Amino acid sequence: MHMRYLSFILLVSCICLFSCGAPGEETKQDIDPFHYEQQKKAVGSNGAVVSAHPLASKVGLSILKQGGNAVDAAIATQLALAVVYPEAGNIGGGGFMVARLSNGETVALDYRETAPASAHRDMYLDEQGNIIPKKSTRGASSSGVPGTVAGLFESMKYAKLPFEKLIDPAIGLAEKGFALSEREARALNNQQEELNQYNTARSAFQRDIPFKAGDTLIQADLALTLKRMRENGRAGFYDGETARLIVDQMKAGGGYISADDLKNYEAKWRDPFQFVYKGYTIISMPMPSSGGLLLNQMLKMIEDRPLADHGFLSPESIQLMTEVERRAYADRAQYMGDGDFYKVPVKELASSEYLQGRMKDYVPGKAGSSIVTQPGRIQRKESEETTHLSVIDKEGNAVAVTTTLNDSYGSRTVVAGAGFLLNDEMDDFSAKPGAPNMFGAVGGEANAIAPNKRMLSSMTPTIVLKDNKPYLVTGTPGGTTIPTSVFQTLVNIIDFKLSAEEAVNGPKFHHQWLPDRIDIEKKFPDSTRAALEKMGYTLFERNSIGRVELIRILPDGSIEAVADIRGEDSAEVF
Ligand code: GLY
Repeated sequence: MHMRYLSFILLVSCICLFSCGAPGEETKQDIDPFHYEQQKKAVGSNGAVVSAHPLASKVGLSILKQGGNAVDAAIATQLALAVVYPEAGNIGGGGFMVARLSNGETVALDYRETAPASAHRDMYLDEQGNIIPKKSTRGASSSGVPGTVAGLFESMKYAKLPFEKLIDPAIGLAEKGFALSEREARALNNQQEELNQYNTARSAFQRDIPFKAGDTLIQADLALTLKRMRENGRAGFYDGETARLIVDQMKAGGGYISADDLKNYEAKWRDPFQFVYKGYTIISMPMPSSGGLLLNQMLKMIEDRPLADHGFLSPESIQLMTEVERRAYADRAQYMGDGDFYKVPVKELASSEYLQGRMKDYVPGKAGSSIVTQPGRIQRKESEETTHLSVIDKEGNAVAVTTTLNDSYGSRTVVAGAGFLLNDEMDDFSAKPGAPNMFGAVGGEANAIAPNKRMLSSMTPTIVLKDNKPYLVTGTPGGTTIPTSVFQTLVNIIDFKLSAEEAVNGPKFHHQWLPDRIDIEKKFPDSTRAALEKMGYTLFERNSIGRVELIRILPDGSIEAVADIRGEDSAEVF
């Protein structure tokens, strides 16, 4: 389905084509940053890119067409998102990449932000031990050490094309600008008050007159930062001028990140979190993301139950899925955090014996309770705004990447002179045991703040293999709703046999133990709502949950790419 995307009249009379290749070089595909459309579904045979912005998806596709592999395309798409999707696409935040390479190797790259070296457990508490409002969510004090740029350079290990080729489209988009959509203009207008409050200098995102659809957003400072990365590699960000500008911003805004924090930041290769569900191999992100383990717990708790017989969106299936979500998230609060700092009992929490035991008190037709359901007892053998992209190439390299600034527009602080927003990821730590963060998630010792520790994430970039070949590449933004949205997307396809579009766009719901309620989208069926309320559940209607990007390989080998209708996400194939 093609949807008309931009409804604005341009003030320029000619179409200005934007070249995707290095300056002066002939390219396979020109991208017009002033006229573009969303594409919600596409089928191809050589490769696909699905991301949160049509221009970023087009950049990724053009890299595939120029001979790049899925990792090249994922790098270029992330860099483009850092320009055209400032609310979450980023170089000032962090993320995770899960990849399954055509040679069968699976890898997971962790470029999550870290707490600065000067961070300490009680840094967001006042003298009485109360949380200081907004200190972990707004301004320079809320930022962790950004990891995205280190992640991009680290993932070059699997790329084919030179980095210059991958970053040039982003530089062009920042330098020459692109047309804002109506939603983007509105989103920026909504941020003006806080952008003015949390910045010492004026950025490209601030204006005295409101932004409107069709306005060109030029980001000259960001273009210079990207050029420093092009010239100097990771040192173009973590050292020299960019690092100096970040540290200056910290000084101006009461932040914690030092020059040494930046120099010392390292992306880390991890063993992907892998398990089998009904014959499908699920590959996802390990700690410091809770995503893979939660997905494992939830899927395994339903595996032996007749979910498909209950039917999609039936009260019975929603209840069962809600109760496994409740149990998994109770464990998240107690046991999950950065595995380099806290011994997360992963094996114990994923064991079938434990998970069967967790469901012993499940009563069909009767709402559970988060007072009764507490984190599980295990025997230790001692020891919201985010963005996702899915890519596959013709060799069968599959890449799932989720990155985040945490909240939409992160800390609302733009690094003066460097043109990019900093994250407010420190709020993903548990600032005080039992106190909810911005997603309402609680935590304790496992996710307490410590110097250089990574805050617990929910990001769940996921690849599913069928018969040992890539079948699904998926993920979503959405804070703590990420694992439940990925869980539901997989179940929608594997158990309910829905089409890719139905699986992505169908109503989503979410339970995270505390608060004890089911969040539902507006389009949730009335009859199911009534039945769940009768069982004793509290329902909370909210705006959209997540925006899933899904690639599915069809039986004939063709590639189906679906972008969620909840956002301006867009799918490109060839
Ligand atoms: N900041 C959202 C997450 O990492 O889960």
